[in-house]
Amino acid sequence: MTLRKKLIAGNWKMNKTPSDGVALVTELVAAIGKQTEVDVVVCPPLTALESVGRALEGSILKLGAQNMHFEASGAFTGEVSAPMLRALFATHVILGHSERRALFGENDAFINQKVIAALKNQLRPILCVGETLAEREAGSTLKVVQTQLEAGLDGVGKEQAPGVIIAYEPVWAIGTGKVATSDQAQEVHAFIRGLLTKLFGEAVAQKVRILYGGSMKPANAPELLGQKDIDGGLIGGASLEARSFVDLVKAAAEAK
Ligand code: PGA
Repeated sequence: MTLRKKLIAGNWKMNKTPSDGVALVTELVAAIGKQTEVDVVVCPPLTALESVGRALEGSILKLGAQNMHFEASGAFTGEVSAPMLRALFATHVILGHSERRALFGENDAFINQKVIAALKNQLRPILCVGETLAEREAGSTLKVVQTQLEAGLDGVGKEQAPGVIIAYEPVWAIGTGKVATSDQAQEVHAFIRGLLTKLFGEAVAQKVRILYGGSMKPANAPELLGQKDIDGGLIGGASLEARSFVDLVKAAAEAK
């Protein structure tokens, strides 16, 4: 038995208007809004945060953003800050997603500033790490993950670390239907837990949740979620429909 409560987070990416989002979470709230076995977070696009947040009120579902800037305010056209997200009652923020890294040029130092800013503002960062297919084939998966993790968590204190959530997302598995095998995922999750132990000590490392992301679906979730160091999922495609997302939450509730 693990001390870590499973967490299922939905990353809607650039999908859904506010009314589409409210319709989806209304179904989610009806199906899983009262269960307490699994923590559940939905991360809509910024334009839907406020209305989705309102639709979540009174349920156990929590609200997350997909990105933010590390400064609190200022001349950063197009950006939003941690205090702005907090004002909408967001509790989580995805940081360093591979799409941000690959398509928007985010590097580890920049992502690290965001992690620090999130924690300072009582937002839980979901820090994403993961290798590309070329990196896996070159045998550098663990090295890449180590660099991203250590750089991303630079300056995070031992007392703050339990509030951090890590998402291991092999880039080659995201949106491709090619899921990592449970052995491949568990190997990297255990490695991450080992790195967290070195950084923060065993007791803290045992508290940090490490999610798997990359084509997780109700059909492959039970096996992945049954692994010792896989504490939940960061779900893209399968978070856009109520039925598949609810089934993932149920799979997490049943995983031991
Ligand atoms: P996917 O996306 O579930 O559609 O593969 C996961 C993610 O990018 O977080």
